[in-house]
Amino acid sequence: MRLGIFGTGYAGLVTSVCLAELGHTVTAVDKDPDIVATLSQGQSTIHEPGLPELLVNNIKAGRLKFTTRSEDAIAGSDIIFVCVGTPPRSDGRADLCQVEEVARTIAPLLDGYKLVVEKSTVPARTARWISWTIRRLAGPEAEFDVASNPEFLREGTAVRDFLQPDRIVIGADSGRARSLLLDLYRPNFDCPIVLTSVTTAELIKQTANAFLAAKISFINVMSDLCETLGVDVATVARGIGLDPRIGGQFLNAGLGFGGSCLPKDLSALIKVAEENGVDSGMLKEVQRINSARVERLLSKLETALWVVRHKVVAVLGVAFKANTDDIRGATSLTVVPWLRAAGANLRVYDPAAMQKLEALYPPDDHLMYAQSACEAARGAHALVILTDWDEFRSLDLERLRSLMRTPIVIDGRNLFTPAKMQAAGFEYYSLGHGDVAPSVETQRIAP
Ligand SMILES: NC(=O)c1ccc[n+]([C@@H]2O[C@H](COP(=O)([O-])OP(=O)(O)OC[C@H]3O[C@@H](n4cnc5c(N)ncnc54)[C@H](O)[C@@H]3O)[C@@H](O)[C@H]2O)c1
Repeated sequence: MRLGIFGTGYAGLVTSVCLAELGHTVTAVDKDPDIVATLSQGQSTIHEPGLPELLVNNIKAGRLKFTTRSEDAIAGSDIIFVCVGTPPRSDGRADLCQVEEVARTIAPLLDGYKLVVEKSTVPARTARWISWTIRRLAGPEAEFDVASNPEFLREGTAVRDFLQPDRIVIGADSGRARSLLLDLYRPNFDCPIVLTSVTTAELIKQTANAFLAAKISFINVMSDLCETLGVDVATVARGIGLDPRIGGQFLNAGLGFGGSCLPKDLSALIKVAEENGVDSGMLKEVQRINSARVERLLSKLETALWVVRHKVVAVLGVAFKANTDDIRGATSLTVVPWLRAAGANLRVYDPAAMQKLEALYPPDDHLMYAQSACEAARGAHALVILTDWDEFRSLDLERLRSLMRTPIVIDGRNLFTPAKMQAAGFEYYSLGHGDVAPSVETQRIAP
């Protein structure tokens, strides 16, 4: 099939590359000429394992091209995917400006029947607005449908998630739209396909993300209780997660959820519930619990250091999770300014996402970007872990300890166990595993 894709960010680029990999002819359009120029040269604009190789191969094979010209993505295409951003507005609603702009762009360029497919995560009933917008601008003769095919890929494993999905949701209100999407997916995927209405598909995506967020906040509440009872939350999570009704994933206690999707999709769903007169109390509680996680981490840091001012603090992890360079909704965006305001001297390291933080907080006398975790740790009074990179899990603890001025680790992602850290000679604070801290009488205050 010939496919046009609008938006080549984290979701759109993976969608474009993977659909080309499946043999389709893909023209991907982005309004950012720098992104288009970089991608056209075969260079990925995002850090996503497995993506660079597929990008180059499919450009070479002539199945994938990038452009700033919308008409090139629309002309002759069977399906147009909308993959533009839907960031949160200040009131929590989804900002649909980019989606509306695509609808306005498509309308005058229609050259025969088109299936316009929402892949962006949008509030229920957004498709109606897209449809009305195109109809108003394209006129009554224009032939098109608007369908929903939400994307469930996760950054860090996006290529695998796209090519080996656990399910595909197709929301279509016409037989023609449904058949086109089935023709696109059925030959390549043997996972369950949920065929439903457009509005249901839109709601499935928001519901999925709200449920995942709720699962994380739930285990985080339990982790606080575990800490006070001297119980290890990881064992509790395993004990409940083996029940197939619960499932073991998304039960990692720690700093909670971040990123560009879960927080914004949860707040957008809260607004949808409120606008429709439905109780959103539970969803708001999930949000409140999540915001409190970073405060808990910072209070542990204060407990450990007593006075933060003038202390050297190593921050490991800028990305919102491992294997991505995405910092949207990352805890680093709260922790770094908080530590700077508290007068700490920061040494920050992340394997992939540092440049993005550097653009927001350029280096200065109190903020240094290190080339490795060990360089960040050198001379530090405390080390704070914010991201679950494997590189941090496999740190040489003996070396790390020898580099630090005082071996204090505040582990926001529970990468280590208290026993292991105690054996390695660290003062160790976790979120739900228990702490290894000296009593106040013997506590060593950093020079
Ligand atoms: N990031 C993820 O892991 C993920 C997963 C599933 C779903 N989604 C959803 O997919 C959507 C996109 O997310 P993202 O993370 O890829 O966003 P993003 O901000 O990384 O990418 C959006 C891209 O769209 C481009 N764009 C904006 N307006 C345009 C226009 N009129 N024409 C052409 N290009 C335009 C921007 O330049 C940008 O490159 C969101 O709704 C998101 O919720 C994202």
